[in-house]
Amino acid sequence: MMPAIRVLAIFTACALVTACGGGDSGGGATSGADPVGGGTEPVTDAGSDNNSGSDVDIGGDEPVVLADLPSPPLTEAPSANDEPIALAQEFHTITDFPLVGEPSPRVPVSVVSQFSEADFAAGLPPAVVSVPDGVDPALNGAPFFEGLQNVRVNAGDVVEIRYAPRDPEGELPGQFAQELPPGATFDDNFDGTRTLRWQTFQADVGITAFTAVAIDPAVSSYRSSQTLLIAVDESVDPANVVNATPSIRAVDNYTVRVGDPVVILLDGQDRNGTIPSIELVNPPAGATLTPDYRDEGLSWLRLVPEFVGTLTIDVLTRDALDSSITGLDRITLFVKPASEFERSGARLRDAAANGRVLFGSALSPVFYLQADGGLYESFADSEFALMTPESSMKWDAINPLPGLFEWADMDNLMRFAEQHSMAVRGHPLVWHRSLPSWVEETAVEDRIVHMREFITRVMNRYADRVDIWDVVNEPLNDTSGEMRQSLWFETLGEQYIDIAFAQARELDPAATLVLNEFDVGFAGPKFDGLLQLVDRLLARDVSVDAVGFQMHVFSSFNQFDELAANMAAIAERGLDIHITELDVALVAGASDATQANVYARVIETCQEQPQCTVLQTWGFTDRYSFRTVTEPLYLNRDFATKPAYEAMQQTLSGN
Ligand code: XIL
Repeated sequence: MMPAIRVLAIFTACALVTACGGGDSGGGATSGADPVGGGTEPVTDAGSDNNSGSDVDIGGDEPVVLADLPSPPLTEAPSANDEPIALAQEFHTITDFPLVGEPSPRVPVSVVSQFSEADFAAGLPPAVVSVPDGVDPALNGAPFFEGLQNVRVNAGDVVEIRYAPRDPEGELPGQFAQELPPGATFDDNFDGTRTLRWQTFQADVGITAFTAVAIDPAVSSYRSSQTLLIAVDESVDPANVVNATPSIRAVDNYTVRVGDPVVILLDGQDRNGTIPSIELVNPPAGATLTPDYRDEGLSWLRLVPEFVGTLTIDVLTRDALDSSITGLDRITLFVKPASEFERSGARLRDAAANGRVLFGSALSPVFYLQADGGLYESFADSEFALMTPESSMKWDAINPLPGLFEWADMDNLMRFAEQHSMAVRGHPLVWHRSLPSWVEETAVEDRIVHMREFITRVMNRYADRVDIWDVVNEPLNDTSGEMRQSLWFETLGEQYIDIAFAQARELDPAATLVLNEFDVGFAGPKFDGLLQLVDRLLARDVSVDAVGFQMHVFSSFNQFDELAANMAAIAERGLDIHITELDVALVAGASDATQANVYARVIETCQEQPQCTVLQTWGFTDRYSFRTVTEPLYLNRDFATKPAYEAMQQTLSGN
């Protein structure tokens, strides 16, 4: 077999220096629905004939009146084809009631490269330079990479590109790589340069972008990000391409409880672009391997660990083209006795029940498909009186493509909550993030109708089972009190909020409707802006019942008086306060005791405010936190309680 060809690319180029702007991700919202929920009032906003939200007749302080939604809707409504089907027990960990799964094949993750041949031909993309406050590029030139150019190879070639960072002032910049291509390395040459080395295969055919960052020697936040495009063409002779060893996608090490069902998704991968077969080597007694019902490349390992200890499971993958080529991966489970997860004292929901604060948590998407789903379930179903879907109700989860609705996970969470007498918070109806890529392409003039249709579809499915709705999430800029210039704001300014609440109120007259925001638990321009927004909404009779304080804080948080004052300002306006997403990230060197104290003080501040009626954490185990690196929750990654758990027990019970 011919050796792979080495392609050594060292070119000369210079980067364009461009100050990179801030700005927020924006995001649009869309979905179609049956025209249910159209108002019966006279048309004043979107006329049904033109689907436009742009002629909304909202003057100064006039309350909005909703028009009928268009018929047919802007995008296809949910149908019987979207209805979930029974999920076989081989695929999940919950044993006491059947779960449902999606009926359709998995939504293809876009495999189209974001870069085209035209992009490649246009040459090296300009560097993006981040210029921090106080730096004048005229005096301190931006760092850059010397000698780079887009690279074209054939599958099977090894790409080698040397990265030599330079600085106009002559000092040597630092550098690091962002996400590496699969199997690539970014090797230190110990002379201030690094080399990207990448053995390409058939699976890499297309255009891959690789970005390295040069760091100014004087100001570390002054950086230049340089993307380079690597075009991998089909091999002239596939027989020349070395055949890679297959494997499974990496599986985390899990702590599980003896006797709990464990499921693990095995995702076979082969860089030659084929799907390897998967076999268990000496599997534990009773272990099964079941092909996924939606995707032939996936298999589900299911077992029930019967003994305490470290359980290893070896998985052999076999090349689809040459069965003599195999890969071996090892899965490790730490099997603990049930006694290690028993908790003394009151369950948090029972402790809270002594008072008037409803206590709950966000729950992870498809937690029942994780190896430790048994532990997750047993904690959640005993500790919480309120459940919020962390992400299962978001646009990209519910409606990933026009006309395609994926209700299964949200249906499962809803039934889980009902089975354990938990109230449910719908989150979020309107947000600028977690939107499918097709949503942001909606025309501005259609967007309000899209928004109303989505709200209608979600609330039609769940309204009689949801007690609280986060109707609009994060309407303000990250750090100021200004309105976020989101895709929503682009339509009608802040009046999108009026319409969203009017639509939600029309669909669920009895629910608690919430405006939810982060970084408003202390004094500052953001809370000032929130208060002004609330006053404007109330002046327009917008049907807000409560304001959500997310409270994603740090262990250094100590502005409890300011939190109390901000809550009081909201209460003075006749609105309730919900703590909606509490977690306490550990700052460097902070102790678990410090973290516990912040949890306790936030709970006390809520208890002291009669109109603070709900307190929710954003998850409960560090393993599944979106801030996981800062260990912000009250169980560690292995479901062991931290001091914050005991502190919450005591504080919630009013001790
Ligand atoms: C976060 C989830 O925790 C992440 O897993 C997801 O990737 C992005 O969204 N404010 C909100 C929540 O209102 O919906 C966000 O949840 C966290 C910030």
